[in-house]
This record gives sequence, C-alpha cells and structure tokens, in this order.
Amino acid sequence: MPNTCKKQWLEKHTGLVYRDSVKLIEQKVKGSQKTTCEFDTRFVDMGGANNLGMLCHHLIGDVEPLFATKLESCRLAEREYFFLKWQQETQIEEEWVAADIVCCTHLGSSDICGLTMEYLHTPKVHDDQGVIDLYRRMGKLTKYLSSMPNAIQHENLIEIPLEANTKITRTIKYIVTQLHHPDAYQVAKEFMEKRKSVFSGWEREYQKIVQFISDSAFLSEDFNFDQHYGLLHGDFKKDNILSDCKGRLKVIDLQYYSYGARLWDMAFLCSKEKEWFGGIHNKFIRPLALSPTEYRIFVLLFVLADLLHVRKSNVKRKLTMHVLPALSSVATYGE
Ligand SMILES: Nc1ncnc2c1ncn2[C@@H]1O[C@H](COP(=O)(O)OP(=O)(O)O)[C@@H](O)[C@H]1O
Ligand SMILES: [Mg+2]
Repeated sequence: MPNTCKKQWLEKHTGLVYRDSVKLIEQKVKGSQKTTCEFDTRFVDMGGANNLGMLCHHLIGDVEPLFATKLESCRLAEREYFFLKWQQETQIEEEWVAADIVCCTHLGSSDICGLTMEYLHTPKVHDDQGVIDLYRRMGKLTKYLSSMPNAIQHENLIEIPLEANTKITRTIKYIVTQLHHPDAYQVAKEFMEKRKSVFSGWEREYQKIVQFISDSAFLSEDFNFDQHYGLLHGDFKKDNILSDCKGRLKVIDLQYYSYGARLWDMAFLCSKEKEWFGGIHNKFIRPLALSPTEYRIFVLLFVLADLLHVRKSNVKRKLTMHVLPALSSVATYGE
C-alpha cells in the first residue's frame, strides 16, 4: 500500500487526522524524555507484516532519526511494550537485547497504538557471530523471568498471552512451549497432516518427516526444563535484528516472545537461510556445540519452521536444500 493510502487507512481506523496522531505521539515522547525539543516526524513504510507503518522522529535539522514509532494493533503493541519495559526495569543496560523503549501511545479511541523506541540501523550484512551472540544473550535473560509479573517457573508465564491465530503463533504456542508434553508431538503430526496435499510426488519423504516426529516424542519423557527451556523471541530472523549507535545488535518485533524450547529461535533463523543445510549447520549450529538430544530438538523445530509456509511451488527446494539433509544428519550427529 503506498504511504498516502496507509495514512488514509490510519485516519479511518483511528478516527484522528494523521497530524493529530503524530502530535499525540510527539507529546508523549517529549513527556517521557523530559525534553522540549521539537521533532520532524515522517511516515515511512519499512516493510514487515504486522505493522501499519512506521514514524521516524528526527530532531529538527538532523538527517538521522532519533526515535522510531511502530503503528500496530494495541494488543500486539502492549505485548511488545511489556517485554521492552521489563527489560529496562530488570536488567542493566549492557544486558539489553532489544531496542530501548520510549513510550506507547494509544491513538484516539481506536485499537491502534504507537510504540516508540530508539531508532536502530539495518546492518548492510549481518555478522553471523554477532547473531549467535545475540541468541545467547537472549537466553541469559531467562534468569530474570521470575521477576515478570505472574511469572511461574516452568510454565508459560507471559502476562499477555500469545494469541494463536497464525501459523507461526500456533506453532509456538502448541509445540515450542509444550515440548515437554506428549500432545506437542500430536500437534506436530497434525501440522504435517494439514500440509499433506502439498507433498504429492514426495509421499516417501513426507512419511519420513512424520516418522521423525513420532520418534521424537520420547523427548517429552524426563524433559529437562532447565536445559531446554528459556525466554525466546519467537520471530528471530535477520529482518528483526538491527544495530544501535554503538554497533551492538538488538532485536525488534517482540510480539511473539514466549517461554519454551529456546532452540526455536535458532531453528527459525536457520530456516530463513537460502543455502544448503550443510552450510547453515557450519555457520550457526557447530558453534553451539549441541548435545545429541538438543540437536534432535533443533532439527525437529527447524523442519517445522521450514515447512510453516510450504507450498507446491517450493516443496522440492525446501526438501532437498533443508529438510532431508537435516533429517539425515541426526543419525550421524556427533560421530
Ligand atoms: N527501532 C527501529 N529502528 C529502525 N527501524 C525499525 C525499528 N523497528 C522497526 N524498524 C523497521 O521497520 C520494519 C518493521 O518493523 P517490525 O517491528 O519488524 O514490524 P512487523 O511486526 O510488521 O514485522 C523492520 O523490519 C525495520 O526495518
Ligand atoms: Mg518484523
């Protein structure tokens, strides 16, 4: 949608003239930053699936924006805001993995909010080691989880529940956060069943995947929470990894954060890589030195992440480049 259409859409849904929405957000930013500086705010479409556009706030005369506001539904904005506030209130700045939050502004009486945070840069190329470090840093935050309101160790403990209304959120909610439960493997089989028609001509390969899922159900016996569960981003991919003014990588887009199998984040990131599985393994998995059990969890989650949006047009590529070599690698892992 061109910017003018997005602006009109926003006006229709907030019941506010575009300039008034901007004014409301700028006032809240000034209040929370205790500043009287004036902003030059511009509407931009920076991509992404869930946002309704972004606002870049420049200090008058500056080329670089200082803050960015993501326009999105209040429910998603509040979920992100909750995480970002929690990070700021419980951790020291060196530990922050996500953008520095400024404020969340409700636009009129609509269900649209503006989530304002520090402006981050899109790296020209992502440094893989930096991405692995970020994944590890995110895992270290698990120790702070009990300070989240309503947090109960070993439960899905996030204050604003994740709504399971898309392929990715259903997978996170019913599989990734439930791997300790035998039902998760049943849900994973149903996940495959729903995609069965796409595998015409690849029936043997389809059966191999279903068999792998069944064989993995033993993971739910004696499941070791401490080893496998932790705080996860949910939508951990390069589009959602930006860098701050000190060059430090940070995540954005925290709508799907959860408590569950942490390897989901790495599996999801790897599933987005275009190259052959062997190369992905060398870059991202070898450095993690996973145990054979962890490796099986990784492959299970990688296969599900890869097949989230499988279609007849991409099934061959997904199978030959990612899924089949990943499945074959389980038997020989660690030899
Ligand atoms: N704090 C930020 N600073 C700069 N750009 C941002 C910031 N947050 C988001 N963006 C840009 O906007 C895009 C969409 O934001 P994102 O939070 O990922 O929304 P969506 O939920 O729609 O994917 C990102 O891919 C990024 O390019
Ligand atoms: Mg995004």
